[in-house]
Amino acid sequence: MAILSETTEARIRTEVERYHPHYRTALLPSLKHAQVEIGWLPAEAIARVADLVGVSHAAAAELAQFYSMLHTENHGRVYVEVCVQVPCAVSGAERLLRWLSEELDVPPGETTAEGIRLERTSECFGSCHRAPMCRVNEDYHENLTRDSARELASTIRARLLAENAALQGVGVGHADGRATSGSTSQERTAS
Ligand code: FES
Repeated sequence: MAILSETTEARIRTEVERYHPHYRTALLPSLKHAQVEIGWLPAEAIARVADLVGVSHAAAAELAQFYSMLHTENHGRVYVEVCVQVPCAVSGAERLLRWLSEELDVPPGETTAEGIRLERTSECFGSCHRAPMCRVNEDYHENLTRDSARELASTIRARLLAENAALQGVGVGHADGRATSGSTSQERTAS
């Protein structure tokens, strides 16, 4: 059962062609494509990317461990991190965490079945002057209020729903590392 969808594998092949003959340069963007689909990088996904790019599994695993934006532990497909360091804390970080927890229906430190993980983080994101704030995967959301937090949660859920629908049945690895298959040919060519 494939760990990556045909869509993601096609994106990786495009990266390899783009960087030919320096195909090793394609490794980082290719790992990112895999992470976008799964939300993190299980060992099987890293190995598959390595095979597609043409490097050793060890080299791909080493790169995945090296870059902090690549996650080799299951973070869910959408990783919501609320900064609770002192500058953010005095601006309502815990209140923001509670709002997001209510809106996303997940306690801090846990992951929903659809793949949304909510975390409080001790890492300052450098947006203290725009607190309270959170990071959603790589995107920052700042000066959050009750209304904008609700809007953000609703956007996250809608986006995830759309992504899940687009990827459904094309061999997608789930947030918990499982893989599925069984698409129609129409779905396979859809994106
Ligand atoms: S303390 Fe929260 S962004 Fe700096």
